[in-house]
Amino acid sequence: MKKLLIANWKSHKTKSEVDAWMEAFEDKMETSLTQEKVKIAIAPSDLFLAEVADELEYGTALAAQNVSPYPTGKYTGATAATQLASMGVEYVIVGHSERRRYFGEDNAQVANKVRQCIDAGITPIVCVDDSYISTQASAIESEFHAKCIIAYEALDAIGTGNNVNPAQVAEVTDQIKEVFGDVPVLYGGSVTSSNVTEYAEINDGWLIGSASLKVENFWALVTAVANME
Ligand code: PGA
Repeated sequence: MKKLLIANWKSHKTKSEVDAWMEAFEDKMETSLTQEKVKIAIAPSDLFLAEVADELEYGTALAAQNVSPYPTGKYTGATAATQLASMGVEYVIVGHSERRRYFGEDNAQVANKVRQCIDAGITPIVCVDDSYISTQASAIESEFHAKCIIAYEALDAIGTGNNVNPAQVAEVTDQIKEVFGDVPVLYGGSVTSSNVTEYAEINDGWLIGSASLKVENFWALVTAVANME
């Protein structure tokens, strides 16, 4: 199976920065065969989904960083899963710890978001830390578990430069599979081109924040993953 790399730009980048990143990235993709080994998804701010969608080539996918827990309707300011799907979004990051911390998201809302994604034909990437794997799993209807990708997002490792050691990632990955079943498991938290290979045997892919902001850093990561045995 191809390894999945999600570039999560969070609230970074203006329109011109998005354009410049995409141009530089597609130039690199054009001259490489990495797309045969790595599935890449770009998660820009919703504002620039159309921008990124227009530039996508070589099998790169579109992802969103969030979704409404409600369907389309009278929900001012919210973006429904069906709207994301209509833009070509394949994956949505759901329940990121920054959403929980700064926007008060809880397990029940995350579960509703998962349902909205699945109903719209989008694969949810559900973020968990080890302390709430079980509570999050039980909030999500069990029939949906097999349709999720789960990301182990270690709170202390996100944006800190302190990636979690592979032994612990392996342990938490096993816990996730015990609870959610044999789903793909990603790891996120200060992953870079220098440490990603340590997780080669453990994870099906990685969520990349800081190291996705500059094309050179992200490309080094893509290349490191493509060269994994
Ligand atoms: P980071 O972010 O790579 O900057 O640690 C990861 C994430 O938030 O998923």
